[in-house]
Amino acid sequence: MAQPSNPSTHVAYDALPRDGLPVAVDNYIKKNLHSATYHNPLETIREASLRAGLPDIACSEPQAKFLMLQARMCNAKRILEVGTLGGYSAAWFATTSPETKVTTIEVDEDRVALARQNLEKAGFSRQVEVLHGRAIAVLQDIKEQVQNHKREVFDFAFIDANKQDNLDYFKLALELTKDRAVIIVDNVVRNGRVASAEEAEKDDAIKGTRDLIESIGRMENVVATAMQTVGEKNYDGFLIAMKK
Ligand code: DHB
Ligand code: MG
Repeated sequence: MAQPSNPSTHVAYDALPRDGLPVAVDNYIKKNLHSATYHNPLETIREASLRAGLPDIACSEPQAKFLMLQARMCNAKRILEVGTLGGYSAAWFATTSPETKVTTIEVDEDRVALARQNLEKAGFSRQVEVLHGRAIAVLQDIKEQVQNHKREVFDFAFIDANKQDNLDYFKLALELTKDRAVIIVDNVVRNGRVASAEEAEKDDAIKGTRDLIESIGRMENVVATAMQTVGEKNYDGFLIAMKK
């Protein structure tokens, strides 16, 4: 059957508002569903990261708590994160349970130093290790450690780094996680641009995410979908995959 014509040329992807109703709902959710228990140390990480000049691209608080709940539903004790930024989502993952350990990888040296400092101040340095380096190389090192029984496999992975390498990160995450592990990838919708082959030609990040989604669709050992989201972080989405 013929595909409907692609409407992308008529869509102003960046004209979508960052405020309005979805933000009002995020505020309502935070006020009513987010206890103060973890709010202060975790929001302090976001604030310190912004003050240090990091881009405002960490997950929103409802997104981070949603991710932590996914990890909690899996009873995840070992969580892998690709892309630390200032350590905000890693800190949220550490709240999955007191025994949960998070390994997060960051390529930028200044961000590594800031994340370690943020996590220390917030009381999470016992639970979170921040590894410095190019994620593909670090993941390969971790794989060797797993093969040599120097490190256990992970229960859960969150991929939130440069989008160009999403497929390589995902494949390595598959190798580093146990059967029935969950792997979540951030930013797979990007204001709807993911649905446009034309946008992918213009933007390697969109291309990386499309390569990921289309490759996962052909993987027989993975069951996956993606969920579109709105809110403080505008219109985006998570891919969620589980090893069969
Ligand atoms: C960008 C990256 C992210 O991981 C995110 O959540 C939002 C934006 C970016 O690189 O623009
Ligand atoms: Mg992200």
